[in-house]
Amino acid sequence: MKVDVVLGSFYGDEGKGKVIDHLAQNADVSVRATGGNNAGHTIVFDGKKYAMHLIPSGIFSKNTIAIIGNGVVIDPKVLVDEINNLKANGIDVSNLKISDKAHVIFPYHIAMDKLLEDLRKEGKIGTTNRGIGPAYCDKFERSGIRVCDLYKESFKKLLDRNVEAKNALFKLYNYPKLNSDEIYKTYLDYIEELRPFVCQTEVLVHKCIEEGKKVICEGAQATLLDIDFGSYPYVTSSNPTIGGIITGSGLGAKDIGEVYGVLKGYSSRVGEGPYITELKNEIGDKIRELGHEYGTTTGRPRRCGWLDLVALKYAININGITALAINHVDTIGKLDEIKVCTAYDFEGNILDAFTTDADICSNSKPVYKTFKGNFGDISNIRKRKDLPKEAKAYLNFIEKYTKTPIKFIGVGPEREQVIVKK
Ligand code: GDP
Ligand code: IMO
Ligand code: MG
Repeated sequence: MKVDVVLGSFYGDEGKGKVIDHLAQNADVSVRATGGNNAGHTIVFDGKKYAMHLIPSGIFSKNTIAIIGNGVVIDPKVLVDEINNLKANGIDVSNLKISDKAHVIFPYHIAMDKLLEDLRKEGKIGTTNRGIGPAYCDKFERSGIRVCDLYKESFKKLLDRNVEAKNALFKLYNYPKLNSDEIYKTYLDYIEELRPFVCQTEVLVHKCIEEGKKVICEGAQATLLDIDFGSYPYVTSSNPTIGGIITGSGLGAKDIGEVYGVLKGYSSRVGEGPYITELKNEIGDKIRELGHEYGTTTGRPRRCGWLDLVALKYAININGITALAINHVDTIGKLDEIKVCTAYDFEGNILDAFTTDADICSNSKPVYKTFKGNFGDISNIRKRKDLPKEAKAYLNFIEKYTKTPIKFIGVGPEREQVIVKK
């Protein structure tokens, strides 16, 4: 059986958690492959809302194995809190598995994230300040500490070495020193709590595939936040695109089946960086309020704008997206008029291909096609044919422009509020 992948098409927060939660109901295994607790994936069911930062959203489906893959960077405190919060809500976590190869976030990564942002001055990225970038830096610099290293005698030595090196830097900038013994003491408790879940998850995934089990893969962040293909340097420090998902889970290219590109009926971005279709006006404010666009992780108001089909096409190409999952169709349908960007006007030249060149992005104006809104209340509709003609026209155009089928339509935040193409 092929592995279905769910990933973000724009700047994150497209509703990946909701799509995964839906697919997980028919899956045996759900794998989170990238990012860390910079992610916030919202799942709403039975009147309760859960914001998942590290544990795969598939954990809510009984009997589905939920894997935190090797590509994830793990803050053990956040993970232990998340486990305990789920347990307190009666959610069974016995099916959780944690990769022995995932890298671990330490307090010095979080302090370094803040220091680097301060040093960037007006060029700051607007990171989530969770230590994500510095943890990935250590991984690639080869001084990172992996989950498996936590259970070895050499752990304290590695920690001492790293804290000493970071303290030398902190001293240069008059930042407070960290204490390795204190970190060690606090981490020992987390380490013991996590021990039962740790295994070679890539081996487990392949065993499951061989046994004919259904595996799904949950991306975090999104294409335009990708370290290679996003709006560098206003990106995250990993590859949330398909390559990163493969590397971050141990899957092989031949294992991949459907690749769902998740988007919203509009777009949003948290943090700094170019954003051609941003609406810095009352329509943007209205979308933010209608869509409750405030960060799941940091609570920051999200920048809002129209849907950018040029960028979507880029995401489709980069990831090999085979199907679209569009959320918040209910939200966008509350506006009188809806626009979608079909090209960019760069100093009089019409561009129909996305670019990561910050200068071109900052000086381009979107070319829009306008659609009628006012879809009415569509939150109880479960078949595409029952949608109002205005909604159909809007969705049909997206499919035609992108040459990609829409297989999932979100008409509300709740688990059941979806229209799914079988
Ligand atoms: P993720 O990071 O991609 O998983 O997305 P987030 O959870 O950060 O943000 C998506 C937000 O939209 C959450 O508050 C969801 O509950 C909400 N949501 C998802 N799909 C829909 C939808 O179709 N309609 C509405 N109204 N809300 C949705
Ligand atoms: P999900 O999975 C939206 C953004 C941050 C910042 C940039 C770098 O919920 O879609 P980082 O802390 O990663 O170094 O910050 O990336 N960012 C996200 N924005 N959704 C996310 O995840 C994000 N993860 C990181 O706001 O602009
Ligand atoms: Mg999110």
